[in-house]
Amino acid sequence: MRMPIFRGAKRRWGITLSVLVLASLLLAACGEGAPSILNPAGPVAAKEAGLFWFILVVATIVFVVVEFILIWSIFRFRERPNSPTPRQIHGNDKIEVAWTIAPSIFLFAVLIGTIYTMFSLNQPTGNTLNVQVVGHQWWWEFDYENAHVTTADELVVPTNTIIHLDLKSDNVIHSFWVPQLTGKTDVIPGHDNTKWFEADTPNQKYLGECAELCGLEHANMRFYVITKTPDDFQTWLTGQQQAAQNSSDPNAQAGKALFMGQGGCVGCHGIVGVNLKSFSDPLAQKLIGPNLTHFGSRRTIAGAVLTWDPSSCVVQGTGSSAQIVNEQNCGLWQWLHDPQAVKPGNDMHIPQLTDNQIALLVAYLESLT
Ligand code: CUA
Repeated sequence: MRMPIFRGAKRRWGITLSVLVLASLLLAACGEGAPSILNPAGPVAAKEAGLFWFILVVATIVFVVVEFILIWSIFRFRERPNSPTPRQIHGNDKIEVAWTIAPSIFLFAVLIGTIYTMFSLNQPTGNTLNVQVVGHQWWWEFDYENAHVTTADELVVPTNTIIHLDLKSDNVIHSFWVPQLTGKTDVIPGHDNTKWFEADTPNQKYLGECAELCGLEHANMRFYVITKTPDDFQTWLTGQQQAAQNSSDPNAQAGKALFMGQGGCVGCHGIVGVNLKSFSDPLAQKLIGPNLTHFGSRRTIAGAVLTWDPSSCVVQGTGSSAQIVNEQNCGLWQWLHDPQAVKPGNDMHIPQLTDNQIALLVAYLESLT
């Protein structure tokens, strides 16, 4: 007997609902600007994407064959009027052997493909850059070990160079993931992991994220990998090795005084040439916030919750009359105005700053290029 799932008006609603559910499932992965593992930008991600496509092809063949046999059987052997009782059987050796061997072959193919990809992902030898990555709650620190440079939120790398990462955490488990460059590796306290990747194209910006639930702001523990040609990278690195600039702009000078004093910023943040003698100053280990020596050269703040740009943070006036024009558009103003509203639960507990104080701090931070 025919058993419709929905009847009449209910049927129309049922169909509408099904279409909506299917459409939302399909569209869920299409957020604007969301990076895709299927759009690789380096050899590691390309091999991982290749394995994905291989397994998808195998799984599609299995799906099509199984569904075809299933649907064909349903129609071919359906009950017709006056059909006799079918022949009663208890197992069929040929079919059982076939449906044991066939999946084994498919699974073996997947196993071979997976093992081959795993071995092909061993780190090759060649021109290598070592970076120590430290997962904090909830932001990423990047230490260029040999160059003695520490930065945050933005991992700047040269193209066509093996980027070797040492992954460390002194708090909870995080997971380092840059979908377009490399898969996920856990960042575990007391158990240092390593990974490597390479980027093909210079002057690109790839979103990275934490892929292991690590607390309230796990979803806001993001970062960017920024690629440069090897020459541009060397220029960038040399610039980053310098002590902080000391701008003569009176607003920046007033901001620096706030930074050192009333703002309380030096309790958590280090700036080489200000409260740190060098990037390897032992004091740096005790400061829980990102190193800000070259903050003005970065465009990402607070685990990429906010970006900012000097052109949207224009400071008007001098000294006690300094204000930011259109402050709501300035990501850095939003952050300094109320960091707990932007990213609840983060470690930045600061006194409420006036708009004038924020303008002076912004002027100072912008000058740290
Ligand atoms: Cu760190 Cu999730």
